[in-house]
Amino acid sequence: MAANANEQTQEELILSFLSESGGDYTSGEALSSKLGLSRTAVWKHVEALRAKGYRIEAVSARGYRLVAVPDRLTSLEVGPLLDTRDLGRTIHHHESLPSTNEKAFRLAQDGARHGEVVVAEQQTAGKGRRGRTWVSPPGLNLYFSAILRPGLPPQRAPELTLVAAVALAESLRDAGVEAAIKWPNDVHIDGLKVAGILTELSAEPERVHFVIVGVGVNLNSQVEHFPEELRATATSLSLALGQPVHRARFAASLWTRLEEWLDLYLDTGFDAVRARWKALSSTLGQDVLVRTDRHELRGRAEDIDPSGALLVRTAEGSLERVLAGDVEQLRPRR
Ligand code: BTN
Repeated sequence: MAANANEQTQEELILSFLSESGGDYTSGEALSSKLGLSRTAVWKHVEALRAKGYRIEAVSARGYRLVAVPDRLTSLEVGPLLDTRDLGRTIHHHESLPSTNEKAFRLAQDGARHGEVVVAEQQTAGKGRRGRTWVSPPGLNLYFSAILRPGLPPQRAPELTLVAAVALAESLRDAGVEAAIKWPNDVHIDGLKVAGILTELSAEPERVHFVIVGVGVNLNSQVEHFPEELRATATSLSLALGQPVHRARFAASLWTRLEEWLDLYLDTGFDAVRARWKALSSTLGQDVLVRTDRHELRGRAEDIDPSGALLVRTAEGSLERVLAGDVEQLRPRR
């Protein structure tokens, strides 16, 4: 289901009307005349909503009342909590997708606008960096891809991943945990990975057509939801906090932060993002082993350069610039 303020489905409209009435009843007659539907059609939509987990009370001669909304990530749950201009104002929400990045890419090719977001409750082939899979069980976490049209030259597009990492670490900190960024774009809590970013690009030599920023955040996964091989290295916000996380509230907070940082970046350049990234980094100052597609490199992670590449000082004293790879921390910071 894809919907925005202008293209709401009948079910979303019913929910909007019921939410607007707060705890009061809305008559079936009022709903059918607002929607131009028969009373039977309204009732069928109400049944469909109940099947999705909305608790809607029906009392004869009074009408319908919304009692509880499920933990879902449609515009109906996220929209009222959002404080953004563009980002997330249109949400393409799906129960299941192979990958939100793939779907967002196709939508962008078909002309989707800056700020439109694809969200899935579950991914069956979630894509991670370097050809890996992003484990995406249903209904627990946040998997989304934002379509951005930032008007940047293609060589600057990788900076957007760092913009997203800063927004992500900050929104996790807002939620009450000590999140840190591990170069290039993993977000960790206590050394365990809680979130990752996969940025994809459509461009010609001089001009970016669009950028897809795909983000996966483990919000409510418990240990048993992770495959065996990830249990020692992955965590979720809920595991760190010791309580369930309200997904719509987290999504709204993250998208609000993301738009703030994106605006600042597009207005003033990369410097402020780079400074904040460095302050949030758990990589800088560490002795690291970096694995790239072609080689391995050991040294001290000294800095990121103006484009976000990692600068590693080797034992021989040379400063190596790494654009892409995986970092392993060799010993704790002294
Ligand atoms: C990483 O390897 O750390 C990056 C993971 C990115 C996963 C997200 S989940 C939403 C979006 N859709 C995908 O297929 N991947 C990204």
